[in-house]
Amino acid sequence: MDRNIVYIKDTGILQPDRTKDVYAAFLNGLRDRGMQDSVMAVRVADIGAYNQGVVIKVLPDTTYYNVKDADINRIVDSIKEGKAVQGLAARKEPKQLRIVLRNCGVVDPDNIDDYLARDGYQALKKVLFDLKTPEKTIDEIKKSGLRGRGGAGYPTWMKWNFAKQMVSDQKYVICNGDEGDPGAYMDRSVLEGDPYSVVEGMMIAGFSVGATMGYFYIRAEYPLAVDRVQNAIDRCYERGLLGKNILGSNFNFGLEIRLGAGAFVCGEETALIASIEGRRGTPHPRPPYPSVKGLWEKPTVINNVETLANVPYIILKGGDVFARVGTATSKGTKVFALTGKIKNSGLVEVPMGTTIREIVFDVGGGIFNNKAIKAIQTGGPSGGVIPKDFLNTPVDYENLQKLGSIMGSGGMIVMDEDDCMVDIARFYQRFCFEESCGKCSPCRIGTAQMLNTLSKIAEGMGELSDLDNLRRISQAMQKAALCGLGQTAPNPVVSTLRYYQDEYEVHIINKKCPSKKCRNLLSYKIIPEKCKRCSVCMMNCEAKAITGNKDDGYVINMDKCVRCGKCFEVCKFKAVSKE
Ligand SMILES: Cc1cc2nc3c(=O)[nH]c(=O)nc-3n(C[C@H](O)[C@H](O)[C@H](O)COP(=O)(O)O)c2cc1C
Ligand code: SF4
Ligand code: SF4
Ligand code: SF4
Repeated sequence: MDRNIVYIKDTGILQPDRTKDVYAAFLNGLRDRGMQDSVMAVRVADIGAYNQGVVIKVLPDTTYYNVKDADINRIVDSIKEGKAVQGLAARKEPKQLRIVLRNCGVVDPDNIDDYLARDGYQALKKVLFDLKTPEKTIDEIKKSGLRGRGGAGYPTWMKWNFAKQMVSDQKYVICNGDEGDPGAYMDRSVLEGDPYSVVEGMMIAGFSVGATMGYFYIRAEYPLAVDRVQNAIDRCYERGLLGKNILGSNFNFGLEIRLGAGAFVCGEETALIASIEGRRGTPHPRPPYPSVKGLWEKPTVINNVETLANVPYIILKGGDVFARVGTATSKGTKVFALTGKIKNSGLVEVPMGTTIREIVFDVGGGIFNNKAIKAIQTGGPSGGVIPKDFLNTPVDYENLQKLGSIMGSGGMIVMDEDDCMVDIARFYQRFCFEESCGKCSPCRIGTAQMLNTLSKIAEGMGELSDLDNLRRISQAMQKAALCGLGQTAPNPVVSTLRYYQDEYEVHIINKKCPSKKCRNLLSYKIIPEKCKRCSVCMMNCEAKAITGNKDDGYVINMDKCVRCGKCFEVCKFKAVSKE
């Protein structure tokens, strides 16, 4: 039976949290109307809103804000009637569409019966007993137009087909749950919220390519995801859904988890394979691709968590139904981890082709503190920034690439006028430098040189020739680095240079940071006309850079100042200037 799902959370910050009371009142309302079995209410930790009182979200698309006690029963009645409550602060969220996240927050991720009650393993049954052959299964995936969600967007059916065509006594399927991009937590949420779908996706992939064994590669920093996937695997073995002669067919398939130690490069497929094999997790050149020679030199398909979570849905609903969502070249939905200067940060799932503006303003609620949007960053360290001028761009693989960024795995960081593009480039470059495995010199030396150059510019010691150097190193890395980490590490630098070269130049020529972010370029001054001589700034200055007294006033000695910004923060009279 399909249940209505309702999320409840008190998002107020001034009063004690009332989530528990509201939840109890909601349950009473359901019981009074005999609706306790048809509606599942969930107290959630994050509802994608902040300081908007009690928020009740009725899935799929209606959210009520600042709900008062007297409104609760009206909301319960409205669920029965199937329409929204008139006159309440409600917001429709038509832009979201949950395919990947269809079960997240809906099923109990530890309860296999919950998953079975929502068509769990029906897709596998269809594959084994209706479609019957790998060819027909792969054909359905081909019709769907599904492309890999791990970053590169490679057509899933092609990858499966390559592995299927290989003749081998043993083949493998790997689920890539490494997810090392800063700001990304899509895969983790799917593994934690709906592990059975990914298990089912793995089994269908296994059947399609002729594999009898699959591995989940999950980073050890995701202990809940690991527990839930392990529980799902154990329950499936108990019920005969994994192991030999699954569901009475002649399909045999086993699953195990391997833990990653949290190195970004281990998400790269050849490094990941080395890591599972117990070797040092460093990449090696391709070809041969894993679909030809992968784990223990056997044909291996590696797919991302989100890619696999789509698979049961596609098989069950039909590839053509899936293909109706999205754009000509990018089908289905994409889950984004929407973060940064956004009001409603959180996981969102939107059809491909939704514009950046719709994601940021309609789904994300706009910019925090009503500041102006400056750019969005997609694709993490392998991606780039997209300036606000391109907000109307429909999100798909090709469009983002044209703008100099990539879809990546789905991190989307919103930036406002206070964000400095040199600082952003430096942040990602530091990440790549620290995560570079060091195996090849273009990346080992290139990331270090780029980081040094960016730091020089951010600290006011840059020269104009540095910009050409950054471009030259970028090109060399893109061409010569051994793996995707080094090849894409320059992307944030290249894209910030492409759109914001003037910002770099102000840092270099004027020794100023227009966004007031680069600490070494800031100077603090006390404005005598505004200063009330309260001495609070002096008391808070740990560097003892402020001198003076109530009679003569106060001054900041910039030679001693470490630019911590404390005086600026504590002065209630806006008498400290930051330039
Ligand atoms: C440095 C680096 C890190 C990567 N990290 C991940 C990751 O965390 N998860 C992932 O699915 N793919 C990651 N990838 C891409 C994978 O190597 C691979 O292409 C992907 O798992 C294939 O799955 P898909 O076809 O379903 O996208 C990474 C690639 C590189 C170069
Ligand atoms: S590009 Fe970087 S991460 Fe990849 S192999 Fe070379 S050094 Fe290692
Ligand atoms: S805190 Fe502000 S008002 Fe007080 S002494 Fe410092 S600058 Fe003046
Ligand atoms: S910025 Fe920090 S170190 Fe500098 S004067 Fe203010 S409080 Fe002192």
